[in-house]
Amino acid sequence: MKTFHTIAELRTALKSERLQDKRIAFVPTMGNLHEGHMDLVRRARQEGDVVVASIFVNPMQFSANEDLERYPRTLTEDQALLESNTCDYLFAPSALEMYPDGKRSQTQIEVTGLSDILCGATRPGHFVGVATVVTKLFNIVMPDCAIFGNKDFQQLKVIEDMARDLSSNVEVIGVNIARADSGLAMSSRNGYLSAEELSIAPTIYQTLLWAKQSILEGHVSYANICEQALQKLEAVGFERDYFEIRAQHDLLTPSEKEKQLVILVAAYLGKARLIDNITVELP
Ligand code: PAJ
Repeated sequence: MKTFHTIAELRTALKSERLQDKRIAFVPTMGNLHEGHMDLVRRARQEGDVVVASIFVNPMQFSANEDLERYPRTLTEDQALLESNTCDYLFAPSALEMYPDGKRSQTQIEVTGLSDILCGATRPGHFVGVATVVTKLFNIVMPDCAIFGNKDFQQLKVIEDMARDLSSNVEVIGVNIARADSGLAMSSRNGYLSAEELSIAPTIYQTLLWAKQSILEGHVSYANICEQALQKLEAVGFERDYFEIRAQHDLLTPSEKEKQLVILVAAYLGKARLIDNITVELP
């Protein structure tokens, strides 16, 4: 696997691949890679002739009070993991390479509506940072397809809408959530959890399963289910952010006829803000 830190070097390498009509599959990440990320790389291997991953802890998607500084940076281990999963190229730029004039003077991409709800309500500006950096990465890599995890359900929606609205040529592909045996969704932020918190954390998935079961059993008061779920999480030590039942297609409050639902949760445990979700298909 070749690692490049500059846009120019990566462009030169990919240009010669493209001249040979190779299909390029791209996996954007912020590093500190785990098996969830590797599922995306393995899917990219199936989708493309050439697999490109990126590692960039994007300052533009963190607000001032968030974990930009302490976000885990483990480039050497990440390179070994990518290499063993037959990734061909890694793009690992500096912040200066991506934002030569600083993030303030950066043109911004905003998927309106979707960016202000759920995680966007708690993290103002976050999805503008995500949509902007992914647009830049798409312009740099010019992939045929790009692979994202359903773990960040709202992020995937933002990127799908962004690609559609900007007439992007990149096919956006979603991959299922990778979980530990405990049910806990794999995440770089799980590293912030103490041993005790790690034993509590799977409650987030158990609560999603409970809510899904309640919906399937015909409980119609979604507000009630969500409030009970938040109380279950608080009872074991989480602090609430949100627990919501939404329509899969636009993430808005579903109409009574809506059959394709998604339950989304964000909650704090110690220093970590954890997110997870589960889809529900009503008969
Ligand atoms: P990061 O959190 O590193 O995640 C990179 C990709 O891995 C995302 O598409 C995310 O949904 C996926 N992923 C993470 N954990 C997963 C799991 N347990 N199962 C399946 N997929 C999982 O998301 C970002 O980085 C950034 O916002 C980025 C898109 C790179 C833009 O900066």
